[in-house]
Amino acid sequence: MCQNKAAGDALLPGRRAVSKLLAAGAGLAALAACTPDGGTAPPSSSSAPTGSASPAPSASGTGSLSPSEPPSAVPPSAPATTAPPAPAPSPTSPAAALPKQFSLTDPTSPWVVVNKRRPLSPAGYVPADLVQPNIRLAVSGEAAQLNSTTAAAAEQLFAAAAGDGVVMTLASGYRSYDTQVSTYNSYVSSRGQAEADTASARPGFSEHQTGWAFDIGDGGGACAFQPCFADQPAAVWAKANAHRFGFVVRYPWMQQEITGYYYESWHLRYVGVEAAMDMSTRGIETLEQYFGLEAAPGYL
Ligand code: DAL
Ligand code: ZN
Repeated sequence: MCQNKAAGDALLPGRRAVSKLLAAGAGLAALAACTPDGGTAPPSSSSAPTGSASPAPSASGTGSLSPSEPPSAVPPSAPATTAPPAPAPSPTSPAAALPKQFSLTDPTSPWVVVNKRRPLSPAGYVPADLVQPNIRLAVSGEAAQLNSTTAAAAEQLFAAAAGDGVVMTLASGYRSYDTQVSTYNSYVSSRGQAEADTASARPGFSEHQTGWAFDIGDGGGACAFQPCFADQPAAVWAKANAHRFGFVVRYPWMQQEITGYYYESWHLRYVGVEAAMDMSTRGIETLEQYFGLEAAPGYL
């Protein structure tokens, strides 16, 4: 049975767990400040969002880790056990009708699809163009960063929301592989693995690691990361308007059998204005359906 908002808070981490997760992000930021690159604040983005990805070099290698494996600075590589997925949408998918096509596998592509059947490749991918957007932040350090294209689009999204009197904050942006290890393990500790897997991606399987996704808050902490956030002005506004700025609500209500996750009214994913508008016009809610990919209810 698909459990979403009606399932209630008990199925998601409570305030304490959320605080712990946010603290984990802040802790990593402090750690980053001790590294040669960590002391310099990233530049604020200013360019307009586009449908194209910013090319970024990435390390080679593929693989995924089980949550029981210890975190490491450089995730180990492992040979792929399944045939590599098609790099572009199938010719019969709705997305194939768009004039500009992008890779579904390259993490620098705005169309990359990461889910429980499609791990990031390489597992330790780090966007080369992380920046801190000029928007209201509820976090600091890496969690306040996005890739440059997403950052620019977020600035427009947040400005439009503010223009409509809606307060929106960046509650969680980029997460490194190692941060996702901590995040996922916190969920497992508090809820057990089965429930953790419906709310948090395993390391190497999170959109947050691509820089194309972020979570929003409302500035007051009301219902943060909880089902009731769907009724807060920030979520209501985002659901109605995000597509105009190139975003989709990636884990929609009652789509758990396709996305693998409970409804996350706070998680926005940039796919470009053309694709987001097209999905909205067609009434297609998930990237899996739009790109003609298999559903990803669970890990293989
Ligand atoms: N909460 C989403 C699924 C993530 O952890 O990436
Ligand atoms: Zn998220």
